[in-house]
Amino acid sequence: MNILIIGSGGREHALAWQCAKDTKVNKVYVASGNAGSALEPKCENINLDVNNHQAVIEFCQSSNIDLVIVGPEASLVAGLVDDCKQAGINIWGPSKYCAQLEGSKTFAKEFMLANNIPTASYQGFTDADAAKDYVSEQGAPIVVKADGLAAGKGVIVAETVAEAHAAIDDMLADNKFGDAGSRVVIEQFLSGEEASFICMIDGKNILPMATSQDHKRVFEGDAGPNTGGMGAYSPAPVVTDSVYEKVMQRIIQPVVDAMQAAGHPYTGFLYAGLMIDDAGDPYVIEFNCRFGDPETQPIMMRLQTSLVDLVQQGIAGNLPKTAQWDKRAALGIVLASKGYPETSSKGDVITGLPQTSSNTDIDTVKVFHAGTKFADTSQDGVQTIETNGGRVLCVTALGDNIFDAQQKALATTASIRFDGAHYRRDIGYRAINK
Ligand code: AMP
Ligand code: GLY
Repeated sequence: MNILIIGSGGREHALAWQCAKDTKVNKVYVASGNAGSALEPKCENINLDVNNHQAVIEFCQSSNIDLVIVGPEASLVAGLVDDCKQAGINIWGPSKYCAQLEGSKTFAKEFMLANNIPTASYQGFTDADAAKDYVSEQGAPIVVKADGLAAGKGVIVAETVAEAHAAIDDMLADNKFGDAGSRVVIEQFLSGEEASFICMIDGKNILPMATSQDHKRVFEGDAGPNTGGMGAYSPAPVVTDSVYEKVMQRIIQPVVDAMQAAGHPYTGFLYAGLMIDDAGDPYVIEFNCRFGDPETQPIMMRLQTSLVDLVQQGIAGNLPKTAQWDKRAALGIVLASKGYPETSSKGDVITGLPQTSSNTDIDTVKVFHAGTKFADTSQDGVQTIETNGGRVLCVTALGDNIFDAQQKALATTASIRFDGAHYRRDIGYRAINK
């Protein structure tokens, strides 16, 4: 079998690595991948303009691709799945219609309201003054969000009314997020503990992935601005059996039923970002129509069933209800480049990456790459790897428990160096403190 993975982040490296483990897979192409996917056995990075759907279709036809897995939301929101399906290609992901759950916060909010899915109350605005009046009326803390896609960064949790007003000006008046911020959603502040609930859905059957939680703030203690994610782990103890049942009944099943009723059955990964309050009741913070990044990395470390089999069953409409998971915990620490999340630095040489041949922890520690690429120069015949984005690497380890996995990941992280590298030493602390 030949597989095509769309995307170039840590999520896509982890998905490619899982697919390549399956003995029936000959080749995994990654468009466009990173240095990590380039080094992976059976994997090959390709240069493909994924925004050009016809080019993707032609590549699939000429390279005998049996299966396409889409990583990032942008391709899903742009309708890559619809176009490929129409051309008879086996592709895993939601349609353009369903991807609106992530592509438009307004769509997602109206969908949740219409289907009684628990979420924060909200109001949408295009006018800055009206938005500010609403904030003054509601008081703080309050949450200001850009309506469109903003790579996890278009959300301001404002502690004060003044901070919320400034965020509204940034988005609506100063256009800081471009088109994504031409409309804002203002939301009630939810308190509690967050978790990521990720499933595979084939239109009607649901296969929940192992539970997980990520850390979105850039600094230790969950302080500082939001990022795409500074680390993640699985399982997430906050998702008890009772919370799990509530999430399935109150959130995931209603999405599946409502999309089916709308004539747009949901297929692909679905990610519900949750806030779980003190009573153990889950509220949806956001839907993503794809796998999480960095949640994919620890979850894929634990997956023992073939991902390729699951995706094929998903496309055929007969997903199993459960998969096999490693009993151990997995935890991933993101190394970010200088300036992230406001900016990012490219071209910093990365040293100290574990060499596969000398890595004694080969089965328990895996360094997934995100923003990396090969430099034009090589050192002693070895190709140099350099930074190429904000989130650079995700050092992921398996351990007997979250603490053990954290310590293993930290030990490897400490040996990796590049100019301006920063990471959090406290990933998993909430689970460890429980
Ligand atoms: P989002 O991009 O919508 O997932 O938001 C990013 C982060 O902002 C979330 O992971 C939360 O930490 C925080 N957040 C978003 N919405 C709310 C809310 N209504 N109440 C509290 N925190 C929120
Ligand atoms: N880790 C957050 C996300 O994938 O959106």
